[in-house]
Amino acid sequence: MKFFSVGLLLLAALIAHAIPITHDEITSKTAEGLRLLSLEDGTEPEWVTEDQKLEFMRAGKQFFDVTEVWEDQQTLPKEKAVQVNCKPWLPKYPSPSHQTAVNALIRTLSISNMKSLLQQLSSFNNRYYRSTTGRQASQYILDTVSSIASGQSGVTVQPFNHSWTQFSIIAKIPGSQSQSPVTILGAHMDSINLSNPTNGRAPGADDDGSGSVNLIEVFRALMEGNFKPSTPVEFHWYSGEEAGLLGSQAIATSYKRNGVNVKAMMQLDMTAYFKPDTTEVVALQSDYVDSGLNTFTGKLIDLYSNLSWELDSPCGYACSDHASWNQQGYPTTLPFEALTGEGNDNPRIHTTSDTLTQSGFSWSHSLEFAKIALAFVYEMAI
Ligand SMILES: *[C@@H]1O[C@H](CO)[C@@H](O)[C@H](O)[C@H]1NC(C)=O
Ligand SMILES: *[C@@H]1O[C@H](CO)[C@@H](O)[C@H](O)[C@H]1NC(C)=O
Ligand SMILES: *[C@@H]1O[C@H](CO)[C@@H](O)[C@H](O)[C@H]1NC(C)=O
Ligand SMILES: [Zn+2]
Repeated sequence: MKFFSVGLLLLAALIAHAIPITHDEITSKTAEGLRLLSLEDGTEPEWVTEDQKLEFMRAGKQFFDVTEVWEDQQTLPKEKAVQVNCKPWLPKYPSPSHQTAVNALIRTLSISNMKSLLQQLSSFNNRYYRSTTGRQASQYILDTVSSIASGQSGVTVQPFNHSWTQFSIIAKIPGSQSQSPVTILGAHMDSINLSNPTNGRAPGADDDGSGSVNLIEVFRALMEGNFKPSTPVEFHWYSGEEAGLLGSQAIATSYKRNGVNVKAMMQLDMTAYFKPDTTEVVALQSDYVDSGLNTFTGKLIDLYSNLSWELDSPCGYACSDHASWNQQGYPTTLPFEALTGEGNDNPRIHTTSDTLTQSGFSWSHSLEFAKIALAFVYEMAI
C-alpha cells in the first residue's frame, strides 16, 4: 500500500510537471465559471462546470475544490497526503493525566445549551456557503462565540473572509508559551440540500450542526472554567465544506504559508446520530489521519467517554475538513458518530430530513463527542 502510493505520487509529480496549470488558465477558466476539482490522490485536478460539480456531489463523489488554492499550494513545500502515519519522527502525544480537572469541566457541558443553539442553526432555511441564510448562520455563530469570549483576556474571535458569501470563524485562546504549536478543533457550519443547494431547505442538524454546537459548548465550558493552556488552542467553524472543503482548505493553506505549526487537529463532523437498534460506538476515522494522534484520541475515549471506540473503514479522499489539514502535512483525527463500514451512517444528510427530531438523533450520543473534544484540547494544551 505504502509503496503503491509512493509510485502514484511519483507518477503525479511527472504529470504535474508535464502539464502545469498556469495562472492565466486559472484566471480565464474561473471567469468562465469553471471549477478546478481534485478527485483523487496522485491525479491532476480537472476543470468542471458548476453543474458537473453538483452532479459529482449528488453521486457521492468526494473532492477538493482547489480553484482558489491551487496556485498558492504549488508554491508551498509539497506534503504527501498521509493515508496512515508513516512519519515516526512526528511528535509523540502526551499521556492523558488531568482526569480530575477534565471530568470537572465535562460535568459542566450542557445538552440544553447545545439544543437551543442547534434549534437556532437548523432554523435557517439552509446554511449553504453561497446563500444569504448561510451568511446569517455564520454571523449567528460569530455573535454567539464572541459573546462567550467577551471579557476573556487575550481570547479573540474573528471571521475568516472568503470570496463567497459565508465566512469561516476562528476563535483563539492564547497559550502561556505563545509560540508553541497550535491545537485545533474544527467543524463545518454549512449545510446543503442536494436537489436545490441555493434555495432548498437544509436544516443540517446532524451534518454538521451537531459538531458546530459541540464546539460552541466546549468553548463555553472552557471559558467559564477559566482554562489557561500553556500552548495555544483554536476553534474553527468552516464555511463551504459541502462544496469541496473550501473554507478549511483556504485556512490550512494560509497556515502553511505563514509557517503556523499545528500540534494536532480534531474534526467533529456529525456526532448526534446512531442507527436505532445498533450498539453506540465512536467510529475513529482511519484514513487521512495520524495514527499516533488516533491512539491518543482512543486513550481519551477510554478515559472520558461512556462509549467504546472502533476504527472505521476508510472514509476516502477529501471526506471532511481534516483532509485539508492532512493535505498540508498536519496531524489529524476524526471521531465519527457511527461505523460507515457497517452501513450505520445517517441516511438523511443533505436533505430536508436532517433534523433534531429524526429517528436516531440522540443528544446523549452527541454529548460524548463534546466530552472527547474537551478532553482533547485540555490534555493536549494544558
Ligand atoms: C471580513 O469582512 C467584513 C465585512 O464583510 C469586514 O468588516 C472585516 O473587516 C473583514 N475581515 C477581514 C479580516 O478582512
Ligand atoms: C456516563 O458515565 C458516567 C460515569 O462514568 C455516569 O455518571 C453517567 O451517568 C454516564 N452517562 C450516561 C449517559 O450513561
Ligand atoms: C430540497 O428542498 C426542497 C424544498 O425546500 C424539498 O422539496 C426537497 O425535497 C429538498 N431536497 C432534498 C434532497 O431534501
Ligand atoms: Zn459534514
